[in-house]
Amino acid sequence: MTQIPASDVPGMGRRQFMNLLTFGSVTGVALGALYPVARYFIPPKPAGGGGGISAKDELGNTVTASGWLSTHKEGDRSLVQGLKGDPTYLLVEGPEAIGSYGINAICTHLGCVVPWNNGANKFVCPCHGSQYDATGKVVRGPAPLSLALANVAVENDTVFLSQWSDTDFRTGEKPWWA
Ligand code: FES
Repeated sequence: MTQIPASDVPGMGRRQFMNLLTFGSVTGVALGALYPVARYFIPPKPAGGGGGISAKDELGNTVTASGWLSTHKEGDRSLVQGLKGDPTYLLVEGPEAIGSYGINAICTHLGCVVPWNNGANKFVCPCHGSQYDATGKVVRGPAPLSLALANVAVENDTVFLSQWSDTDFRTGEKPWWA
């Protein structure tokens, strides 16, 4: 720590200055000691990584992996309420597997919700015809960007969504939405 000469502190006598330094040190030690106690009382962030939220179905109920997989088959892309309430596709990758990422359904052109077209194996925007492949990567404009991603994690059977801040694996670039 840089020592400030008492003479450099205007209007403050040496004793006051030393008192201030002592107070600062004691306060720092006390806060350090209290930190674990404070941590104990602050509720932990929801599980699911990075302070995510639980996915909700159209009725606002929490989505469970077992419930979802019992009604959605492999290859399915169906919507849940995701981060900030955005409609987000969960991917079913097998009889017991929900994909590790979700796809935000908001079109990057002008914000329409983009439906999944199973026959075409694409997301096709009804508003101006933009298309995205099965990972949400834009393959036809006018949409300028791919659909945003969210992390998906399953903990104690609850499906959690959290902000995706890693590299966008579809473009190898930083996520435009983060
Ligand atoms: Fe989707 Fe324009 S809003 S193409």
